[in-house]
Amino acid sequence: MGIRSTVGACRSGARIMGKRLPQIFFVLSTLSLVLLIAAIWQATRPSWKTYQRHYFQLEAVGEPNAVTKAAVLATPPEIHQILLPGLHRVDRCTTCHLGVDDPTMKNAPEPFRYHAGLGPHVASKFGCTICHGGQGLATDVKDAHGNVPFWNDPLLSPEYVRASCGRCHKEGDVPGVPELTEGRRLFETEGCRGCHKLNGVGGSIGPDLTEEGASHRSPEWLEQHFLNPSKVSAGSAMPNFQFTREQARSLTYYMLSLTSADMGSYYSSVRLIPSPAYGRELFVQKDCIVCHSIGGVGSKTGPDLLDVTKRHSLEWLDEQLVNPQLVYPGSTMPEYDLDTNSRKALVSFLATATPQDAEAIMAPHKNVITPEDAAIAAGKQNFARFGCAGCHGTELQGGLANPNAQGGQVPSLLHLSDDYTKDEVIAVIRDGRQPPLDNVHGPTPPLYMPSWKSVLSNEDIHEIVEFLWSKQQKAKDSW
Ligand code: HEC
Ligand code: HEC
Ligand code: HEC
Ligand code: HEC
Ligand code: HEC
Ligand code: HEC
Repeated sequence: MGIRSTVGACRSGARIMGKRLPQIFFVLSTLSLVLLIAAIWQATRPSWKTYQRHYFQLEAVGEPNAVTKAAVLATPPEIHQILLPGLHRVDRCTTCHLGVDDPTMKNAPEPFRYHAGLGPHVASKFGCTICHGGQGLATDVKDAHGNVPFWNDPLLSPEYVRASCGRCHKEGDVPGVPELTEGRRLFETEGCRGCHKLNGVGGSIGPDLTEEGASHRSPEWLEQHFLNPSKVSAGSAMPNFQFTREQARSLTYYMLSLTSADMGSYYSSVRLIPSPAYGRELFVQKDCIVCHSIGGVGSKTGPDLLDVTKRHSLEWLDEQLVNPQLVYPGSTMPEYDLDTNSRKALVSFLATATPQDAEAIMAPHKNVITPEDAAIAAGKQNFARFGCAGCHGTELQGGLANPNAQGGQVPSLLHLSDDYTKDEVIAVIRDGRQPPLDNVHGPTPPLYMPSWKSVLSNEDIHEIVEFLWSKQQKAKDSW
């Protein structure tokens, strides 16, 4: 009706219009429909410009000077981007997240809130995606947050963000992220390398984990998989380790940190954050106690180290660790190849070291006395580290299901001495072995004994066999 009366008012040219009218009507209504949809779209998915206008309004609120206020409100919208050649990234997140480095925005709503706790990782040098994930170049919320098909790296949920710290800080402890240290420890002691390669070392029964943190696996998937592999990956040959939730989370953190991305020299210059705990680890690893004492506990070859940080400056101590000969000509103290942060860590441990620490560090020394014992201890470590434990169990008990292998299980290693000589066992470890089939027409069993000759030295294998022999149970015990 409305349209007809409008046309009626416009008498001239009515005849020509008459023919075109349905077409014009169609075009106009299509146009208004498009505009309507665009308006709804705008309302539900505001553009980055809308966010910037809101931000300027927020900034203008507290501005007493009218001229400045008008200037703030009239700021032309523009894309903000952080170029990170060292990280091979361009992050435009700050196009919307405008207040990240403005402390006055600490109570502002997202996406404008000040980012507390970034420490030295300022936005201008680190961007956002290296820790959070997401799609750096995108300027639409959904795309930027990466919740779109074909984007492997969506925003990590807040409970997993700190896993990313391990992408750069690869050794020692990361303050506030104990999960990474624990995950790394579990990986090296539970035998994961028996089936998985990491940075070139390990078996091939499971997937290579060197870039697991850059794969399509979500944190939730990984965590569920650690709690029960065959529940999320039907028929998986990966054992259920009966991990607790905390352990599964720690391993998930560690996995997410594995990307093998090239971080550039600046970012990888601090692989290690110096901490007293890591310094203590180094002190143990380097056997400093063999020559030094702390508060009278330990060896007397070198000076007592209690309060040594009060007697010497940090620079002096650092130099002593780099080059003892220079500090004390003719010194018997070995030169250690320690990087800057490792030396800082050692010194920060020495600043707090007590005689009790020395006693705890000495304790294992009392047990390892003979060369045989030393070999057994080393063998035990190799057994865990190279992944034997992953298939044979940390207690050598075996029992992991291996369908269609004779016996149906990975064998226990507790009774080797009943069937083999040490040399025969060395040969099995060196060359590996396919288990004989239960049913010759059935499928190949998923698990086999890998060959270790390209991974382990003769010395490593010898030590492992000494360890195995130290665990052998007499035949009667097994009945
Ligand atoms: C177009 C604007 C826009 C861009 C671009 C943008 N964000 Fe956001 N972001 C938002 C808004 C709005 C929120 C508030 C909550 C929501 O809508 O998810 C938010 C929330 C967040 C949160 C908190 C979400 C949560 O789960 O608690 C994080 C983390 C975040 N953004 C990171 C990023 C990163 C990283 C980038 C760059 C890859 C980015 N954002 C790019 C608008 C944006
Ligand atoms: C060094 C790593 C790191 C960098 C770089 C980083 N963040 Fe964060 N961000 C974190 C951590 C850790 C948290 C806290 C997560 C938690 O425990 O809730 C966080 C929290 C947030 C939150 C709040 C999330 C919430 O749910 O409360 C937002 C939003 C956010 N970051 C956005 C950004 C943006 C945008 C950038 C880039 C300017 C950025 N972050 C850079 C590590 C980082
Ligand atoms: C992109 C690599 C990268 C990521 C990811 C990263 N860091 Fe850092 N971190 C660095 C660099 C580089 C420095 C040294 C910064 C400087 O001094 O300019 C540093 C310094 C530190 C320091 C201070 C060390 C010192 O010597 O005082 C701490 C603590 C720290 N990072 C913790 C974390 C935490 C926690 C996370 C995760 C939320 C994290 N880092 C994520 C690269 C990274
Ligand atoms: C007996 C061999 C075996 C051992 C030991 C083992 N895994 Fe696995 N793992 C597998 C196999 C086979 C798969 C592939 C099937 C599946 O997804 O479960 C797998 C899959 C995985 C995946 C998923 C990879 C992906 O993205 O598809 C991760 C992560 C993983 N393992 C981590 C570990 C960790 C960490 C340990 C040590 C705690 C471990 N595995 C011990 C055999 C093993
Ligand atoms: C991927 C799983 C897997 C890993 C990892 C593994 N084994 Fe095995 N191992 C097996 C299987 C399966 C057999 C049984 C082979 C057969 O029946 O011939 C076996 C057999 C053996 C045997 C002979 C046992 C017997 O009773 O015949 C010894 C010894 C042995 N493994 C030691 C080791 C050592 C040491 C390591 C670590 C360096 C190791 N295994 C790592 C799966 C594994
Ligand atoms: C082989 C014996 C030996 C070992 C091992 C050794 N040191 Fe020393 N260290 C000495 C001797 C001897 C001195 C006395 C000065 C000299 O001759 O260099 C000394 C001096 C020092 C000093 C200076 C103390 C002072 O009061 O002047 C420090 C600090 C120190 N060592 C730390 C360490 C640390 C940390 C380790 C382990 C990474 C270590 N040392 C390993 C023999 C050793």
